[in-house]
Amino acid sequence: MTILETSGLTKRYGRLTAVDHVSLSVEKGQVFGFLGPNGSGKTTTIGMLLGIITPSGGAFRMFGRDGGDELHAARRRIGATLETPNFYPYLSGRDNLRVAARIKGVAEDRIGEALDIVGLTGRQKDAFRKYSLGMKQRLALAATMLGDPELIILDEPANGLDPEGMREVREIILALAARGATIFLSSHLLNEVERTCTHVAILRSGKVVRQSAVRDLVAGATVASVASDDLAALRRIVAEYPAATGTEERGDRLFVHLADDDLASLNRFAHERGVTFSHLAVEKRTLEDVFIEATAKDAVGGAA
Ligand SMILES: Nc1ncnc2c1ncn2[C@@H]1O[C@H](COP(=O)(O)OP(=O)(O)OP(=O)(O)O)[C@@H](O)[C@H]1O
Ligand SMILES: [Mg+2]
Repeated sequence: MTILETSGLTKRYGRLTAVDHVSLSVEKGQVFGFLGPNGSGKTTTIGMLLGIITPSGGAFRMFGRDGGDELHAARRRIGATLETPNFYPYLSGRDNLRVAARIKGVAEDRIGEALDIVGLTGRQKDAFRKYSLGMKQRLALAATMLGDPELIILDEPANGLDPEGMREVREIILALAARGATIFLSSHLLNEVERTCTHVAILRSGKVVRQSAVRDLVAGATVASVASDDLAALRRIVAEYPAATGTEERGDRLFVHLADDDLASLNRFAHERGVTFSHLAVEKRTLEDVFIEATAKDAVGGAA
């Protein structure tokens, strides 16, 4: 079931196209990472989904609904935080959640559970202004989950946190997903996304340049590093190898991008042509490698 779908969603600010024909599809149960460098259009896209920013073009559906009134109703099934959550600095964490619960029409007896999930039970009576950044982010997550939203939209939920804070946020997100929520989160913390998300879209200058399951993005992306005493012969056979999709040369090594992960076949191919490897190893690619490739200034665009 498709929970969120955008088609050709666009936002222009004068001559700048901040979000450029973004088409995304988020299915129920996914933890969907919306990735992109600074200024690539993540917050603007989320602002449009939440009805804070008016699109210049395109459309989107939530829970299969579009159009003004229907979207308004659909948004009640969403929990969201934008970059800087609004809380009253002088109120306690708990009282801030009471305000949030009242606005959302959620019973106050759900507050204890939300505080528990984000690990703020012990500090619930402290004023918000005394919270550390990590505690503020966790309180924002607690407010977001009030009312058991079916779709949770988070803009940079782990921004500015230390490794411990990031781990806590990751665990909260995974806990929400385990309870059945669909999650859409923007981030440029690739390690976090690789460990949390099931699917990603990568944005560059407002355009989606990749959209895929995390598993598929990182798999099908084996790089073999090879070396041989005869570098010229090595270059030649790698160029002829059918499953090679690209090569880079660093020092005396060739890094061969493969369409499969069959190193034995590469080895055999070379051997049959009289080239023996002095080194052959697989270099697993991370989401970071894929991200850097996809968002490089000279990268070729186009959704995968
Ligand atoms: N109100 C506005 N008026 C003019 N330009 C804007 C406005 N809001 C955003 N922009 C521009 O739109 C582009 C996308 O910005 P956006 O905040 O969506 O990026 P982002 O991906 O969220 O970046 P970050 O990772 O830094 O949060 C940027 O070039 C930004 O300067
Ligand atoms: Mg942003």
